[in-house]
Amino acid sequence: MPTSNSAWGLPTTATTVAATFPESIKNRTILITGVNRSGLGYTTASAFDSQSPSTIIITGRSHAKLTESADALRTEYPSVTIKPLHLDLSSQASVREAAPTLLAWDDVPAIDIVVNNAGIMNLPSRTLSVDGVEMHFATNHILVGTNKRIVNMSSVATFVSPVRFSDLRWETPHRDIPEYFPFGAYGRSKTANILHAVGLNKAVGKKGLVSFAVHPGEIKTELHRSTDQKWLAKAMEARKQAGQGGRLPGQREGSGYALDQEAAEKLWKVSEELVGEKFAW
Ligand SMILES: NC(=O)c1ccc[n+]([C@@H]2O[C@H](COP(=O)([O-])OP(=O)(O)OC[C@H]3O[C@@H](n4cnc5c(N)ncnc54)[C@H](OP(=O)(O)O)[C@@H]3O)[C@@H](O)[C@H]2O)c1
Repeated sequence: MPTSNSAWGLPTTATTVAATFPESIKNRTILITGVNRSGLGYTTASAFDSQSPSTIIITGRSHAKLTESADALRTEYPSVTIKPLHLDLSSQASVREAAPTLLAWDDVPAIDIVVNNAGIMNLPSRTLSVDGVEMHFATNHILVGTNKRIVNMSSVATFVSPVRFSDLRWETPHRDIPEYFPFGAYGRSKTANILHAVGLNKAVGKKGLVSFAVHPGEIKTELHRSTDQKWLAKAMEARKQAGQGGRLPGQREGSGYALDQEAAEKLWKVSEELVGEKFAW
């Protein structure tokens, strides 16, 4: 599998990657959403932690999981300040409650890196958030910002679907998609993650912001809690057969719709309407 660094490959850990860029992490303040002890958010926090950032802000919807993660991170790297922040991304009220808390922290003058990691997958039936937004879209597509670097945890599942702007809530049957299907809802939200990065780079790239959307690989985590386990086993097997970096049947390389500038702009506008706020950069 080709990687951006010829020394890296399948066995390369996040900590090794972090150790390659110590100056990009040292003394920085980093915010990571959706941190639980067994998930990628924790692994990401731990990898950053190894390179002496000044502060790591971890967010999550479960107080217990946040405390568990914060305690473990402090034990691993006692010199780094770990700040847990309760944030349920599926609720605008929760987001608006967390924002002033974060802004009031005197020891956090700015955030250098944001990792939009929180996510859910494959809710078996169509579910709306308290704000009436389809739940994958509400949780996985996040308008969190900084003026420096934003990493969106997307997924190869983007190949399943573009963002269908005409039916964000899965209410209107379509010729090709007659009804809600879990992986479709997940795939759309993951396409939104990429379009969000595309939009950010266009809108604020000139001011120095860099945004990325990445697929982290396939790792067994709590993400798969709502997924049919037989389906998951089949998908994992197909992926194994295709080889890491290989394509599954029907999967297109770098879906064009996820890189479409017009769709990125549209998504930005729609998202502002959904949260009832305009974002100026
Ligand atoms: N694992 C993989 O193979 C894989 C592959 C491709 C992409 N990804 C992406 O990687 C990211 C991390 O996934 P993971 O595998 O580490 O899964 P995970 O262990 O389930 O972690 C997801 C995190 O998001 C949090 N979360 C869910 N809903 C939330 C909400 N409404 N508000 C705030 N936080 C919420 C979860 O909190 P709770 O623990 O409270 O539910 C959990 O901390 C996701 O964006 C996922 O799409 C993962």
